[in-house]
Amino acid sequence: MNEAVQFHSQIASGWESNYASDVFSVRMKVLSELLADRDLAGQKWLDAGCGTGTLARFLAERKGCKVLGVDASEEMISRCAPAANTKFRQIRDICETGLADETFDGVLCSSTLEYVPDPLAALRELRRVLRPNGLLLVSVPNAHPIARWPVLAIYRLTKHFGRRRWFEYLDHSKHCFSKSRFRALLDSCGFRADAMRTWGGVHGPSPILGHGTLLMFRAVAVDGYEFSGSFPISYGVGTSIHCDRQGLSEAGSSFSTSKLDCAKAPRTRTDGI
Ligand SMILES: C[S@@+](CC[C@H](N)C(=O)[O-])C[C@H]1O[C@@H](n2cnc3c(N)ncnc32)[C@H](O)[C@@H]1O
Repeated sequence: MNEAVQFHSQIASGWESNYASDVFSVRMKVLSELLADRDLAGQKWLDAGCGTGTLARFLAERKGCKVLGVDASEEMISRCAPAANTKFRQIRDICETGLADETFDGVLCSSTLEYVPDPLAALRELRRVLRPNGLLLVSVPNAHPIARWPVLAIYRLTKHFGRRRWFEYLDHSKHCFSKSRFRALLDSCGFRADAMRTWGGVHGPSPILGHGTLLMFRAVAVDGYEFSGSFPISYGVGTSIHCDRQGLSEAGSSFSTSKLDCAKAPRTRTDGI
């Protein structure tokens, strides 16, 4: 078990309660928006790095999917509340799920790739288990300086404050991505991104500082894709900033929030892609 999984095992008992706050429940709002026009009833979905299964249950309850949630942390899996049309299973690593090729109509991977030593290998594995034209929803930390610097500054300033310091997860979150680099990474793994949302910040989903700390991409598994070799562009490693000009031209717009999504209406943004 790697250190990131150990870290999550230690915080597993409190993970589900995170979703009582807007900071986390906004993930369901973002999912709802990106899946609003999709009829997923009866579809088989994988939640890769499912934690305590909140989003897997959301997909089953709200979208009618049959969902398998997998996670490397036994403690997380043991805390997954049972629900209709969901199953949960511990795996060794999302880079080697042991699942059959082209098993799923859709894959969700929320806030997990940044903890995996090799996100490229993980994306390749998720592409392998997804059927051609299946859907991937994947969220990653945003490397854009305006999003990243406030978080990093507070993390570094409070790093020596002991156990209850801010953004402790950054000890283990090793990757962040600019929009264009993550799109390129998706391309190289046989996905075509067709929508994206940004949300989050230092103060929560409607941030005071660090606008858009998280990115969620919706991408389609390209039919006929064959992996061609190594990824040509280096991607974000550690807490360094990887940004590009394209990342600066963000066209923001807010979205309506239904009762389904969450009590308040944290802001998310959408970008042309
Ligand atoms: C930040 S939590 C996200 C949980 C859930 N997806 C959510 O959004 O609520 C990251 C999860 O990824 C899992 N994880 C980290 N590295 C992993 C790996 N290599 N293979 C499988 N799961 C991993 C952790 O155990 C943890 O449950």
